[in-house]
Amino acid sequence: MAKDKTILRALAGETLPTPPIWMMRQAGRYLPEYRATRAQAGDFLSLCYNSDLATEVTLQPIRRYGFDAAILFADILLIPQALGLDLWFVTGEGPRLSTIDNADDLAQLRSPDDIHETLGPIYQTLRNLTSALPAETTLIGFAGAPWTVATYMLAGRGTPNQGPAHALKHSQPEVFGGLMDRLTKATIEYLSAQIDAGAEVVKLFDSWAGSLKGNDFDRYAIAPAKEIITALKARHPDTPIIAFPREAGDKYVGFANETGADCVAIDNSVSAEWVAANVQVDGCVQGNLASSHMVTGGDALVRETRRIVDALRGGPHIFNLGHGITPDANPDNVQRMIDAVRNH
Ligand code: CP3
Repeated sequence: MAKDKTILRALAGETLPTPPIWMMRQAGRYLPEYRATRAQAGDFLSLCYNSDLATEVTLQPIRRYGFDAAILFADILLIPQALGLDLWFVTGEGPRLSTIDNADDLAQLRSPDDIHETLGPIYQTLRNLTSALPAETTLIGFAGAPWTVATYMLAGRGTPNQGPAHALKHSQPEVFGGLMDRLTKATIEYLSAQIDAGAEVVKLFDSWAGSLKGNDFDRYAIAPAKEIITALKARHPDTPIIAFPREAGDKYVGFANETGADCVAIDNSVSAEWVAANVQVDGCVQGNLASSHMVTGGDALVRETRRIVDALRGGPHIFNLGHGITPDANPDNVQRMIDAVRNH
């Protein structure tokens, strides 16, 4: 593995003069070339499972912008599908899934060892990318964290406050615990197979971690992340892991030490100055420009980008947004952000 890649150096704890940069959802609908390939594939899931087209859309933002990392094109909801749930996407609305309502539904899920048949095309995309990417570009694989994936499996869709998952936690604790355990095991197998197929870094997206309060955060965000990271480190000691407990607030403090993550990705609800003082003291951080700047642009975009770079310059930092770029973003603003980071 080329250890001189900038992202790998930052993840190993090195403070670089210019932070490496990539962007959550960098392959997506804000890019005309993505929309064209997506139209060719048909729907979003067909694109995820078509290794050639998924390779193509993963490469598009690398060609256009020269990001330091490429992220596998796939989705966190492929795991519930590989475990046997129905999954489809309603255009303009988002994902829909068949739900887990009781112990019988849980018992009918496939075993974590049986996910690879469904997910084979995803591993093929990674193998394709290993040879297709420029030598300096790091390949990132990913999965959803158990809590976030469970919120979709229990509600059958995205929810503003994860109500169904919070309810089941109390009404049927054995079913909830069994589901979390199944997802933890499946995520270990999935990420391990991604690493075998060529992922050089893996990222765990806990997009709804912020709705876990008090002990729930320890039990359902920290504990599963720690179990996944411990198992992956035992099998793949050299593969760095980024954890993203989105909107964790003051629970970002100590998260890397408690879970064993090499880097914590930070959303934009906390300031970069606070991150430097409270999180970066433990190691590499990633983030955290508000993705709305990719829509609005202008001087504010450049000012805020430089402020983040300056605030985090004293330690290992990977520049990124606080959350995914949105479809209404202007591709020119992405270039402005990259220039502001690299020419600062
Ligand atoms: O970052 C990347 O470029 C890699 C690919 C990626 C996608 N989804 C592609 C995608 C990654 C890493 C994800 C993660 C993901 N998926 C998360 C966690 C990160 C986050 O944003 O909080 C979540 C919660 C999902 C579930 C999901 N997928 C939702 C809720 C939606 C619908 C909302 C939307 O943006 O349309 C998706 C669809 C999705 N996943 C798209 C893409 C490019 C848009 C699909 C399209 O082309 O219509």
